[in-house]
Amino acid sequence: MSLLKIKIYPSSVLRKRCEEIKEVNEEIKELARDMLETMYKHQGIGLAGPQVGVTKRIIVIDVGKGPLVLINPRIEEKSKENDYLLEGCLSLPKIYVKVKRAREIVVSGLDEQGQPVKFKARGLTARAIQHEIDHLSGVLIIDKTNFLRKVLLKLKLLLKRKND
Ligand code: NI
Repeated sequence: MSLLKIKIYPSSVLRKRCEEIKEVNEEIKELARDMLETMYKHQGIGLAGPQVGVTKRIIVIDVGKGPLVLINPRIEEKSKENDYLLEGCLSLPKIYVKVKRAREIVVSGLDEQGQPVKFKARGLTARAIQHEIDHLSGVLIIDKTNFLRKVLLKLKLLLKRKND
């Protein structure tokens, strides 16, 4: 296992649309393990392929209920009820944005062994899955806020980067 480097905004890879994974081979299994290790190391609750520079449709999550790997994840259903809560992102250090997410979802995909899975998720798990799936389309939490706040957040990010 090895730690991967987390891509920080405005890295262009964070804006890429990711490709389907054709086969869950050893390389993909190792990637999943490395992503989990990297996520735990940074005390995150989720991580998506592009955040480690890999433009493939893979996400890992652990909201405190154990590791979850989803390959080619797809949201099949969303509840009408939404929650509007603060989110962070390992690629956007120190930025928190209130994001509206479906409270419950049904998600499908492949697990880390390449087996098809489909299940209902709610609360923080549902939120984390929706956040990570957004990454696979190049969507970040700063895109989910109003124009003025977006400008302020981007300035904050760019200034921070300058001072690093
Ligand atoms: Ni994120």
